Amino acid sequence: MISALLTPAQRERILRAATLAPSKHNTQPWWFRWDGANLEVHLDPERTLPVEDPDTREAHISCGAAAFAARLGYASLGFGTAADLLPDENAPGFLARVRITDAAPDPLFETLYWSLPDRKTHRAPFLETPIPPLFLEYMRDAARDEGTWLRVIERGPVYEHLLAVVREATERETDQRREERAKWVDPPDAVHRRDVVPARSLGPRPETPTGAVRDLAVGRDVSGRGTTAFEAAPALAVLETRGDTRTAWLTAGQALLRVLVTGTRYGVAASFANQPLEIPELREEVASDAKYYGTPQMVIRLGMGRDVPRTPRRPVTDVLGPE
Ligand SMILES: Cc1cc2nc3c(=O)[nH]c(=O)nc-3n(C[C@H](O)[C@H](O)[C@H](O)COP(=O)(O)O)c2cc1C
Repeated sequence: MISALLTPAQRERILRAATLAPSKHNTQPWWFRWDGANLEVHLDPERTLPVEDPDTREAHISCGAAAFAARLGYASLGFGTAADLLPDENAPGFLARVRITDAAPDPLFETLYWSLPDRKTHRAPFLETPIPPLFLEYMRDAARDEGTWLRVIERGPVYEHLLAVVREATERETDQRREERAKWVDPPDAVHRRDVVPARSLGPRPETPTGAVRDLAVGRDVSGRGTTAFEAAPALAVLETRGDTRTAWLTAGQALLRVLVTGTRYGVAASFANQPLEIPELREEVASDAKYYGTPQMVIRLGMGRDVPRTPRRPVTDVLGPE
């Protein structure tokens, strides 16, 4: 039986990889369960954001990213893997089953595994060096290989339109959103937590807000942040899917992490400005510029990265459900 193939150390490695996935406000909205050698990814409804993410789209993206990270963990152990999305229609919170296949592991996945720990959301100014176009091509390939489209936006009217829509979304900030975010972004007990976005990960406040850098602390004074000049015109990209179903969200999550770790391998870092996607009519504005795949899932700011602080993760024992 295949389950005999996984030792406790191997299981821990796969689970650890899964927990390194990015998630909205570091909510880590997942729990996992072993079914033999398969790893099940489940949505944790206690860790969703009813105000900012009422349909749990972004929580699904986060869990899709965790499934992809688990696939890299399996590949690093020499296993070919696949992820079955929404495998049980009677269990809506059961989002993905990551399983071993007969195929040889993708050698690229083994390589990407080693970049997983270095991928961090980069809320700091990028280096001046522009991103070599070939690196962006690799990231586009990564998105395409997971069935999505990374629309890298050249400077011009579409670029300006996207920034304008992001700025408009920022202006539409509500007290309700701020209150919800305050529970996950630098909350008073952050030092004792292994989730949430700690103050050190907020990055400095931009001297001249362009819109591309999302200030998660918007409206709140977080001491010690300082103010810095950011790059005037960062590279922007939108990750798009075909359709907007739960499967599409999970696919977006897998693709997102594949794009991000591919970038990490070449020194390309990312932060996100998703606020327009959280407001339906502004999401439609972003979609109006979409070319091929139609449905925007993530707005990404890209550049050559520096070293930025790491966010914490809950230990694997905290994310494991009963077998
Ligand atoms: C679906 C999703 C949406 C996110 N949206 C934003 C965002 O709008 N702004 C932002 O600064 N970070 C955003 N993030 C990044 C998370 O805050 C980040 O992944 C989390 O804090 C963990 O930190 P890490 O990426 O450095 O590991 C998002 C991440 C995901 C997966």
